[in-house]
Formats: sequence, C-alpha cells, structure tokens
Amino acid sequence: MKLNIALLAGDGIGPEVIAQAVKVCDAIAVKYNHEINWTSALTGACAIDDCGEPYPDSTHEVCLAADAVLFGAIGHPKYDNDPKAKIRPEQGLLKMRQKLGLFANVRPTFTFPSLIDNSPLKRERIEGTDLIILRELTGGIYFGERGRKDDGNTAFDTCTYTRFEIQRLAKMGFEIAMTRGKKLCCVDKANVLETSRLWRETVQDMEKDYPEVTVSYEFVDAVAMRLVQWPNSYDVLITENLFGDILTDEASVISGSMGLMPSASKGLHTSLYEPIHGSYPQATGKDIANPLATVLSAAMMFEDAFGLQAEADAIREVVNKSLAEGIVTEDLSGKNKAYGTNAVGDWLAKNI
Ligand code: IPM
Ligand code: MN
Repeated sequence: MKLNIALLAGDGIGPEVIAQAVKVCDAIAVKYNHEINWTSALTGACAIDDCGEPYPDSTHEVCLAADAVLFGAIGHPKYDNDPKAKIRPEQGLLKMRQKLGLFANVRPTFTFPSLIDNSPLKRERIEGTDLIILRELTGGIYFGERGRKDDGNTAFDTCTYTRFEIQRLAKMGFEIAMTRGKKLCCVDKANVLETSRLWRETVQDMEKDYPEVTVSYEFVDAVAMRLVQWPNSYDVLITENLFGDILTDEASVISGSMGLMPSASKGLHTSLYEPIHGSYPQATGKDIANPLATVLSAAMMFEDAFGLQAEADAIREVVNKSLAEGIVTEDLSGKNKAYGTNAVGDWLAKNI
C-alpha cells in the first residue's frame, strides 16, 4: 500500500521522538511491503521563527494532501514567561485543530504489565485499567469569545456548545464504546453550567440508539477523584474541551510515565496522531526523551487511518518487548540503566 504521511515534528523533543517513529514505520513498511511517502512541514515555534506564523498555509496544504499526519510536540519556553506575546506556538496547534476540523481527540490510558510498579498509584488500583477519554477538541472555552473589558482589569473567556457539536462527538463515543466494554461516561458540570446541561440532555436523547451501551453521567470533579481511586472502573469517557484537557493529563501518568501514551485527533479531514506529552524543553537535544508515546501513536495511525491491524500489532508487540527487556529511556529505568532516545528507536526498528 502507498501511504502518504505528513510529518510535523514541531519543537523541543518533537524532532527526536518523531525520528524514532519514522525508523519504526520504515521498518514496518519493509516488512509488510508498503511504500511510505513522508512529507515534512513546520509548525509551532520553529514555524514562527521561519515565517512568523505557527501553522502556515503551506503546512496546512501538506496536511490536507496527506492520508495521515504524524505530529511531535510544540512549544518553546521563550514564549511561556511573556503573557503579552502576540504570537504563541500553541496557537498553531489550535489553528491546526480548527482548520483540519479535528473535533475529536482520542486519548487512551492503559497499563503495561512490566511497568505496573512505576505508576504513582498502587498496583491494585490500576491493574486492568484500559480507558479512553474522548475529548471534544474544536469548541468550548478554547474557541469562545475572550477579551478584556475597557478598564483592563476584567477579563472573560466564554464557553459555547451547539447540540450538533455534542452529537457528533457523543456518536463517536458510543461507537467506540460498542467496540469495547460498552460503557460510556458523560463527564460534565451539569449542576452549574448550562453548556453541561445541554451535553447531558443531548447524550440522554441518544441513549435509545445504543441500547447495549450503559451510560452514566458524572460531574467532572468527581471523575477527577475516581480516576485516581478506581481508574479500572471506566471504559469510554466523553467530555468537553477544557475538562478533557485536564483529565487526560491526570490519566496519562497512571501508566507510569507521561512518555508512554499516544493519541489520535479525528474529524472532517486528515486525522492526526501525536504523543500526549509536550515539547519537554529541558530534555531537548539530550537524547533522553522517551520515544514510545510517539511510536505508539504511529501504531494508532496504522490501525485507524490505514486499517492495517497486523502492522499496528507488530509495533505494540515490539514496544512491549522493549519494556520487558529494559530497553528504555531514563524516565523508566533511572539514569544508570538508561538507553538513549536513538538507541531505543534503533532497537525497536531492528526488532520489528
Ligand atoms: C494538549 C495541550 C494543548 C491543549 C495546549 C498546548 C494548547 O495541552 O494538547 O492537551 O490545551 O489542548
Ligand atoms: Mn493538555
């Protein structure tokens, strides 16, 4: 099969972890007889440095023309301490989500048997955890009207949702639940927020179309608590943009390292696959970043964008093998026994 993949390495450790995923994908292509055509493009701080724009039109064209986008990370500390910076790398990410219509962000949390004791939570709490948070990604407070009142001392951000936006996200949630444990949890704050009441009403109306799915409705504060108490009690959770942002960071550390969890963003055009972690500026160029989340994002891409299950399984298998054999970066092994980012990538590619 011919696979056209846009490669957006981004900033910080992005290029380093993406390079390992490319090695692994190229090894898969050889083994399973595919031809991968990689097209690189800039986004984030590197794109601002290049042309003053964090998601240039030329990059958008590359994404639209591709069958899938593999993305690293964006962000640079030089923008973080300047609240008045007009252009920020993160705007590139938001613009990309909006222009590609990526309304659904699939963020799984699962555990690796060999890493159970790396988790900040006790073994008995997390064993068997296998959940997906489906986060709405192009609406809510992230994209609402915001600003300052005339006096400069009052600021506002607004949260808006339409029934249509909720329905298309919830539909995906129900469909994913049907392929798994058939449990769906709608996470909201319906005791306070009107948008949350619309979420609840909309999802309740859809329940009859999915009689096999058991639906629960829980407040976001309670879910934040239960995620560390009994993460293994959840299957699929659907939620709005900001709640999803917060809960997915919380959930991502359950597996033992933030460097492990992949994600997919799906919507109207090309789907995008990226690690959940950020650009980790402190680690940039040190050959210490964990490439596994990006490699596992490539597995999601094979499964999801190309329908190539054996290829996805082969990637997951080699990742599990590297974990079991301790061919891992310092976040998992400690400094003394650590392998470098590149060494892990080479090992994975060789063992495909
Ligand atoms: C994420 C990130 C982004 C978000 C930032 C970088 C804008 O935290 O992908 O979760 O808040 O959505
Ligand atoms: Mn986030």
